[in-house]
Amino acid sequence: MPQLNLVLLGPPGSGKGTQGERLQEELRLPYYATGDILRAAVRNETELGKTAREYMDRGDLVPDQVIVGAIGERIDSVEAADGFILDGFPRNVPQAEALAAKLSELGRALTAVLLIDASDEEVMRRLGGRRTCVENGHVFHVEFDPPAKEGVCDIDGSELIVRDDDKPEVIRHRLETYHEKTEPLIEFYDHQSLLRRIDGAAAPDTVADELRRALATLKLEADEAI
Ligand code: AP5
Repeated sequence: MPQLNLVLLGPPGSGKGTQGERLQEELRLPYYATGDILRAAVRNETELGKTAREYMDRGDLVPDQVIVGAIGERIDSVEAADGFILDGFPRNVPQAEALAAKLSELGRALTAVLLIDASDEEVMRRLGGRRTCVENGHVFHVEFDPPAKEGVCDIDGSELIVRDDDKPEVIRHRLETYHEKTEPLIEFYDHQSLLRRIDGAAAPDTVADELRRALATLKLEADEAI
């Protein structure tokens, strides 16, 4: 396929970050996770971070204009010429429309939206045990994917922390935000025949296999269309 312009969609904790890291390595495409971008901005106390922090701590979406520009710059970069993997963007219909407008301006279009789904109960279980690497956002789970050494990232050796928004009351609010604002994107993209559904409740390797199968099907469809 000439370009692979992918979006990972799904509720908080469904495994978008876990699978995004794997896909990035396998497909050798830039991976843009808006949550990671915003957390780095908060850590570095940039203007973006100062604006975003209060929204993130509550589990609300940051204002669209804050995030749309940051993503637009990245997909318009040289490193994204062959494609990209977006995680956490778009998160509502206005963001999806802004993404479509930006891609159209660049003469590009989305290849697929990969929905990694999981129930609210599974999300609560997963986010309660998540540990995140403070430097680069690599994710582990105390039960399902423990690091070799407790509290230390296997990949870059930095400290593993509990994210501020992984407190039970904030997780519940993030889920409400997802159902209200982000879930309508499932129908939005299904209408455009871009949606591929992946069962995120399975083990990480099984989810990765399903994603590989979905991408292989996309390639077959693209080859047939030529
Ligand atoms: P963001 O960081 O994007 O959070 P999220 O979408 O809520 O997603 P998570 O990172 O919590 O979960 P994930 O699906 O990546 O799961 P993971 O792989 O870590 O956004 C944070 C905040 O930033 C938002 O609330 C908002 O304020 C703001 N924001 C971001 N983008 C925005 C936008 N576009 N517009 C406005 N605001 C925005 O997995 C979770 C855990 O489960 C891990 O411990 C993992 O090890 C484990 N796990 C993963 N897969 C499996 C599996 N298959 N089986 C068992 N365990 C698993």
